[in-house]
Amino acid sequence: MPATVIIGTQWGDEGKGKIVDFLAEKADIVARYQGGDNAGHTVVVDGKEFRFHLVPSGAIRGKRAVLGNGMVINPSVLLEEIRRLQENGIEPDLLVSKKAHIIFPFHRELDSLKEKGKKEKIGTTKKGIGPAYTDKVARIGIRLGDLLEEGTLKAKLEFLVNIKDREAEIYGGQPTDFQKILEEYTFYGKQLKRYAGDCSAEINKALDDGKNVLIEGAQGTHLDIDHGTYPFVTSSNTIAGGACTGLGIGPTRIDDVGGVAKAYTTRVGAGAFPTELNNKIGEKIRENGGEYGTTTGRPRRCGWFDSVLVRYSCRINSLDWLALTKLDVLTGFKTVQVCVAYKDLTTGETTEDFPQTLEELGRHEPIYEELEGWTEKDLSDGISGNALKYVKRLEELCGIPIKLVGVGKSRKETLVL
Ligand code: GDP
Ligand code: IMO
Ligand code: MG
Repeated sequence: MPATVIIGTQWGDEGKGKIVDFLAEKADIVARYQGGDNAGHTVVVDGKEFRFHLVPSGAIRGKRAVLGNGMVINPSVLLEEIRRLQENGIEPDLLVSKKAHIIFPFHRELDSLKEKGKKEKIGTTKKGIGPAYTDKVARIGIRLGDLLEEGTLKAKLEFLVNIKDREAEIYGGQPTDFQKILEEYTFYGKQLKRYAGDCSAEINKALDDGKNVLIEGAQGTHLDIDHGTYPFVTSSNTIAGGACTGLGIGPTRIDDVGGVAKAYTTRVGAGAFPTELNNKIGEKIRENGGEYGTTTGRPRRCGWFDSVLVRYSCRINSLDWLALTKLDVLTGFKTVQVCVAYKDLTTGETTEDFPQTLEELGRHEPIYEELEGWTEKDLSDGISGNALKYVKRLEELCGIPIKLVGVGKSRKETLVL
């Protein structure tokens, strides 16, 4: 630390929650900077599983938990998450940026309707993320600060509902019950008022005071709106750079950037996936790894580790180090494959760089290297032999150190190399 950003290097669900929880022990503040409840971050402590959607994973340790201005927040989901933490004896010490945008029921409705109307579906989480960010960029969005001012909320909501009703009509949806939503969100404003504040002021002050700030990314680099596999992406900047705009801190304040990568690759939703395994091996990885979405329960698509994909993330995020998770899931395979480069099917040339467009990507296929597998069921006392060789080879291919290795779900099953 003092300011460490943790991001996903693949297509999300890399195990960011577990790594953030592990590092949060030494943090004073843990902050999210983008996305909303499309995220599902799992932390397992003493056999108990916590699933975070909006609240940063460090909240379990009682740390100050900040929800940044770059997020889109569904207040009912946030209040429910707070309630569930309280039920578990944790009173979250929250700060929610007044500049964070608010998700309304019509955003969720439009998310579903727009997907339904699409020939090539993205496979969104249907949480209203895209439509809420669309309104933000169109400068008609409603922010937490607006929820706290009764007159402001009424005027802005009236204007927005009017537009959204016309949009819903185009997509075959129903008009919004304005009065009902106004009452509901006025209530949410009252409930959330005690948490509302200025994340930029607080985090900058904390860094001035020498405190440790841990910044938790959601989704993954290849779901980034600019640098991901567009248009099969989410609607925010998931990369480390997003932490600056999403929290109101300058780039020079960030000291350390860590990337989380699974020991293989997964993806939920549609879009390119060069190393995907549509066979028994893919199924075995899914079953061994419990690869079903934390937020939607959808089966995750599975495939081998793609070092072209992760190397790109090392560059885009200026990663200092990697945390490799779920190594235990690959135990028992006789051999394991790693994608080391791509071959251009039209020219026969090989490349180690991730292609810029989906069309280009479609013209490439992975080149694999085969490594010997390992059989040790319990890796929690340390890794050696072929498992260690695998980690060392990935480190070599990615070009940065692998500092942490996940060998099981629970907090204790994280090895420091
Ligand atoms: P996130 O969205 O990046 O936080 O990841 P998710 O929580 O959605 O998905 C990761 C899943 O893998 C969760 O069920 C975690 O409990 C689990 N997990 C994380 N690290 C490990 C690990 O090292 N080994 C195993 N077996 N499971 C892990
Ligand atoms: P965490 O933080 C994995 C995917 C969706 C879809 C695309 C767009 O748990 O890693 P959206 O609802 O954001 O408009 O959907 O992005 N997606 C995720 N996949 N993990 C996530 O979050 C995701 N959040 C969104 O499946 O393909
Ligand atoms: Mg997840």
